[in-house]
Amino acid sequence: MSVKVETLILFGATGDLAQRMLFPSLYNLHVDGLLADELTIISSGRSRMDRAASHRLVREALGEHLPADRLDEAQIASFLERIDYCPVDAGAGTGYDDLAAMLGDRLGRPIGAYLSTPPSMFGPIAQGLNGAGIACAECRIAMEKPIGQDLASSREVNEQVGSAFAEDHIFRIDHYLGKETVQNLLALRFANMLFEPLWNAQAIDHVQITVAETVGLEGRVSYYDGVGALKDMVQNHMLQLLAIIAMEPPASVSSTAVRDEKVKLLRSLRKLKAEDVKAHSVKGQYTSGAVNGAAVAGYADELGHPSNTETFVAIKAFIDNWRWKGVPFYLRTGKRMPQRKSEVLIQFKPVPHNIFARVGAAKLDANSMIINLQPEENIRVKVMAKQPGLDRGGVKLKEVTLDVSLSHSFEGERRRIAYERLLLDFIEGDQTLFVRRDEVEAQWQWIDSIRDAWAAIDMAPQTYTAGSWGPSSAIALIERDGASWHD
Ligand code: BG6
Repeated sequence: MSVKVETLILFGATGDLAQRMLFPSLYNLHVDGLLADELTIISSGRSRMDRAASHRLVREALGEHLPADRLDEAQIASFLERIDYCPVDAGAGTGYDDLAAMLGDRLGRPIGAYLSTPPSMFGPIAQGLNGAGIACAECRIAMEKPIGQDLASSREVNEQVGSAFAEDHIFRIDHYLGKETVQNLLALRFANMLFEPLWNAQAIDHVQITVAETVGLEGRVSYYDGVGALKDMVQNHMLQLLAIIAMEPPASVSSTAVRDEKVKLLRSLRKLKAEDVKAHSVKGQYTSGAVNGAAVAGYADELGHPSNTETFVAIKAFIDNWRWKGVPFYLRTGKRMPQRKSEVLIQFKPVPHNIFARVGAAKLDANSMIINLQPEENIRVKVMAKQPGLDRGGVKLKEVTLDVSLSHSFEGERRRIAYERLLLDFIEGDQTLFVRRDEVEAQWQWIDSIRDAWAAIDMAPQTYTAGSWGPSSAIALIERDGASWHD
């Protein structure tokens, strides 16, 4: 068992993610008694401010991002007691000595540096911590995505950070792995006998993974434009979902066993080539429209100029291994979709022979399983059933749904913010839900093949109206194969 972090240094503490997610999550852990009494938090940012001013910011963040019934004055006060503030300008490389001075006799003890900063700062901060003698053998570092912009730059970041921290002390975050429902995919597949014997090309026709968002740019113009949906969503969250859905059973839930299987799977993804990228992928960009009844501007209008950045991607992917030979995995993600939903659909093959054909039921719907990850949390399995009756005019069969609602089954249990789990695992040193270096590099290898193929044929995004399910070619992508998106 790893030692626990005694001091958590939060870089980027005045930024949006820290305010919306990290402080509220740490507060929740504090209230639930899950943080050791001795854990100290040093928040850090470029701005110069004193401890009291930083506490005001944290207090505001809690008020804004937590439900009122979680807020308790005494708890807030004791939470703030843990928090100090030290300005560090990571770009200029200044402030590390002050940080070391603030750490005092905690230097050399287990420290966790959490980097909620622009990715260009990951290497410099790791090296700044090293240079100031803050990075010790028991110290660890956590980084938000993206790690690089492609394979080459991700290797560079990994090298820079790796020169100051050993791989088993580097925690690369993909917040989807902190979601309860994503972890539940592991339980569904490997804690039940029911599904695994059918989880292969013999029984499954295809798989669909959809991560649809209703939001647009959300003030993130400078980050998003030039990045786009492929790198923002597919490279990380969608490939994590795909890997968990499709990987071989790990021998245990240890961080090594799970991540070994994910890497094997990611390496089996068939790279896209220029000659097939048009038939196997669609890029889209939203134009003005309406989402949930409200008029919204188009991407280029929000941006103020035309752009080639995609806000929607659909990809038909193949996994070249025994289990999945010939089974298409249709991935789809986009902004300004009609509804927010993340779901996985497993479409089974039809039964090999329809014994009901002669008695009136000419067509049987093939079974499917829909796993809703958010905002709803449920698993639905569609099966055929006989309609009640004497069957004089022939047997009538109908598709019915076996519906398991996780919110009902676990009613009364607070749904935690994904970052609560990730921060606690980071503090306690469990890497299972973090992305290993070879994993992130395997993700980039596949993403680079798509990006290169797009560039080779100069593929521009097709437009779709905000509030629709993407360009019509995304519908054609799956309908050409005789299937359709589950909407
Ligand atoms: C982030 C992306 O990683 O995930 C955002 O950068 C996206 O563009 C977000 O909106 C989606 O996360 P969630 O948890 O709301 O599904």
